[in-house]
Amino acid sequence: MPLDLPEDLERYIEEHVGPVSPLLEELERWTKEETGRPGMLTGRVEGALLRMLVRITGARRVVEIGCFTGYSALMMAEGLPEDGELVTCEILEEYASIAQGYFDRSPHGKKIRLVLAPALETLRGIAGESVDFVFIDADKELYPLYYEESVRILRSGGLIAADNVLWYGRVLSPQDEDSRAIVSFNRIVRQDGRVEKVMLPVRDGVYLIRKR
Ligand SMILES: C[S@@+](CC[C@H](N)C(=O)[O-])C[C@H]1O[C@@H](n2cnc3c(N)ncnc32)[C@H](O)[C@@H]1O
Repeated sequence: MPLDLPEDLERYIEEHVGPVSPLLEELERWTKEETGRPGMLTGRVEGALLRMLVRITGARRVVEIGCFTGYSALMMAEGLPEDGELVTCEILEEYASIAQGYFDRSPHGKKIRLVLAPALETLRGIAGESVDFVFIDADKELYPLYYEESVRILRSGGLIAADNVLWYGRVLSPQDEDSRAIVSFNRIVRQDGRVEKVMLPVRDGVYLIRKR
């Protein structure tokens, strides 16, 4: 769910990221119409930002926490070289099988390995300092734990992008568990001397965090 920008300005921004592939167009449309959870999808602007970050950092190994129907995974896979790998974590079979169906139809799908398991388990099985880029986009109350694991598996100079860090603006006055978890995560990152960071007001807020 994006922060509120006037609709025509939203559309203007979307038009200026350039076209996305017909398969991604289809996946976006299908997800919006069929899942009843359109707000979970990163969409074309944030997706294009992630693809750009993967490309300009020269990432070869990417981990995504929260696959859903596979939109952001496919976007990031487009930014990977042919021998790159993206591990995407999903806990629900229903979403995993939809995502896998789209990965199988994409020329970039062979770079993606979908792991159907709690993300924390998957992260704990990944060797330290072996990953170039992590995208955090799953259950908000676990963000602090995902963050610790992400810093552990990242190489020095590697990048984390954490989604929804403005949480519809609720970070200013947190009233529920998820809002408090995001506030606590943001504070941990802000105080962490192991990383440099910048918070971007893209969609629902993206925290970019570089391991020193
Ligand atoms: C916000 S959606 C991800 C959206 C996706 N990145 C995209 O752009 O389309 C979060 C996803 O994380 C999954 N999820 C929630 N808890 C999880 C967990 N503990 N381990 C793995 N996946 C989880 C949810 O089922 C959901 O599909």
